[in-house]
Parts: sequence; C-alpha cells; structure tokens
Amino acid sequence: MDKITVTSPLLPPLNELTPYLEDIWSRKWLTNSGHYHQLLEHELCKYLGVPYISLFSNGTLALITALQALELEGEVITTPYSFVATAHAIKWANLTPVFVDIDPDTFNLDPKKIEAAITDKTCAILPVHVYGNPCDDEAIQTIAKKHNLKVVYDAAHAFGVKQNNSSILNMGELSMLSFHATKAYSTIEGGAIVCHTLEMKEKLDRLKNFGFESETEMSLCGMNAKLNEVQAAFGLATLGHIDAAIDKRKKIAKYYEENLTQIKGIRVLKPESNVELNYSYFPIVIDEKEYGKSRDQLFNELKENNILARKYFYPLITDFKPYQDVIEEYPLAKNVSNTVICLPIHNDLKTNDLEKIMMVIK
Ligand SMILES: Cc1ncc(COP(=O)(O)O)c(C=O)c1O
Repeated sequence: MDKITVTSPLLPPLNELTPYLEDIWSRKWLTNSGHYHQLLEHELCKYLGVPYISLFSNGTLALITALQALELEGEVITTPYSFVATAHAIKWANLTPVFVDIDPDTFNLDPKKIEAAITDKTCAILPVHVYGNPCDDEAIQTIAKKHNLKVVYDAAHAFGVKQNNSSILNMGELSMLSFHATKAYSTIEGGAIVCHTLEMKEKLDRLKNFGFESETEMSLCGMNAKLNEVQAAFGLATLGHIDAAIDKRKKIAKYYEENLTQIKGIRVLKPESNVELNYSYFPIVIDEKEYGKSRDQLFNELKENNILARKYFYPLITDFKPYQDVIEEYPLAKNVSNTVICLPIHNDLKTNDLEKIMMVIK
C-alpha cells in the first residue's frame, strides 16, 4: 500500500525546467551569482514584496551568515520550540543561545518572557515564525529598541506569509528563509536572507562568497554558501506553480479544520484573521485525557495505517545533547512538544487520503 507522507516536494513540470537547463549548458556559467541566480533574486523580491534578497545554498548557512553580517557578540535570545538549526546557527556564529519559553497559543517565543532573560551580554533576539504563524513583532521590536538589540527572524516556514496584506519577511533587521525540499517553496536545498538596504545585501553577497570584497580584499571570514544555477532555475520554474500549490494546501487545511472541530481533545492552531498563511504544516495538539489516546499512540496508529505524520518539533532543542548545559526548564514548550503532531499536507494529497487520515484519527 502506498504511504501517505507528511510532505511531498513541489516539482516544476520537467518540460518547463528543460529550457533553463539547455541555456545553462550553453552559457557554461554554473555558479557565483550567475544569470538565473540574479533573475531568481529579482523575481522573489517581486513575488514576496520585499526590497532585497540574497540567495543561499541552504537556510542554516543563511542564518549563520545573517548573524555574522550584524557583527554580533554575546547572547542571543531564542526559542527552544524550533528545528535545531535555529540554535545551531547561533552557536556556529560564535554566539550563545539563551532560551525563553513560548506562548502556548501561538507556539512562538513569548515576548512577555524576553526581558527577564536579557543580561548585559545580550546582543540580539532570534524569534521563529513557527509553522509560518507570525510572531508578535510589535512587542518584540519594543523590547529590542529599549535594550538596543538586533532582531533576526528565522522565517524558514514563512515563504509568502502575509499579515495585513504585507509580507512578514519585512519584520526585523534580517529574515532567513529555507528553500529545503520539504518547504512550501523549494530550490531542493536552498535559502535566502531578506534585508532592507542595498548595503546589507552586498555585505551578505560577499559573506556567502568567502568574504571577498575584491579579488585581493577581505574584512570578514565568510563561507561558501552560494546557490548554483541549476537550483536557481528549479526555483524560477517552481515560482509559476507556487500559488496553485498554496491554494491546494489551504483547501486541505480547511478540510482538516472542519472535520477536527468535531473531535474532543484535538486542538488546531488558529492564526489571526489578518494573516494569510502558506499552509506548510498542519499541527494538532492532543489532550490525552479528552481524546482518550496519547500523541504517541495516535502517531503509531497513523503509522500502522501507512500514514507518516511527524512529531515536529520533538524533542525540544534544549533536550538534544549539544544543549545539555541548559538547566532551565521550558514547561510550555515541553508540553506542546510532547503533544503535537503535524498531519500530512501537500500538493499530492487526494481526497481519499484525507478521508483515510480522518478515519484513523476519529
Ligand atoms: C525553523 C527552521 N529553521 C531553520 C531551518 C534550516 O533550514 P535548511 O534546512 O534550509 O538549512 C529549518 C528547516 O529545515 C527550519 O524548519
């Protein structure tokens, strides 16, 4: 029996990719800010409604570079409820992550808890728009201004997400995107940083190319984090299909919402009415007492029926070995992490797949 996977990559039709590949073969310019790399940056700025974008070979390297570009030193306040790359990036940038618990309604870093974690070493706040659900930027900016801190968003899940008709990628000093194959929009592997000035865009462009300012000059120790031409072409060909794919995901989300509200003990994450999501994820939280089964029991039953949901994010970042020096507890994040399941949501799901998923859950 075919497995129902939690996600499935959005692939452009092969015949739309081929002309790009033929052109790349004839140009013989494969990387280092090539024609399609530049074109994709231009098209993404237009599509997303952002002023500047710098493409990267993945989101993790983009996030490390974002932190490096701000020339930070000290502690960065972040959330334990994210993918490990958020905290790993802080460590790779020679900074110290300081974790703060989440808001149990949004699963995002709780701004009300930030100030208690600020010390004289704090240099930045790194919130995550978890599942693309926007953080409370107003509250975060107020704290950042008061304490003279930078704000860098991990917007890995937030491609195309809007609040009050404006891209949430414009929030903060810098925002990182991931274009990994599991994301709503992908370049197979890939990522980007959104920034507000040409000066910053040029700095990011230098940092992803070892730090070269000219053939003989370099002021910062940059890395190699460039996106190649084939992946940029994949991204361009995919861009024409992203709206339809998001629309399909939205319909699936609506189906889940309508059917799950009838089930006691299952909570669905509800964004504010002024938010347009990309529906990359469909998280549900299980109340074991009311539902009659634990998250793990439901997860296993789905698996036995060839439905591959995902415990995302579980374990918490602070429960992984590289973070074992963190002694503080994060009860709200822990509770969500122990009770959350992301249900399958992607472009290839069929009505009978959804019916089967609902049957197992019911
Ligand atoms: C919240 C979050 N941050 C960072 C990353 C890292 O992105 P990438 O896989 O493109 O390196 C991911 C994705 O995997 C993510 O989900």
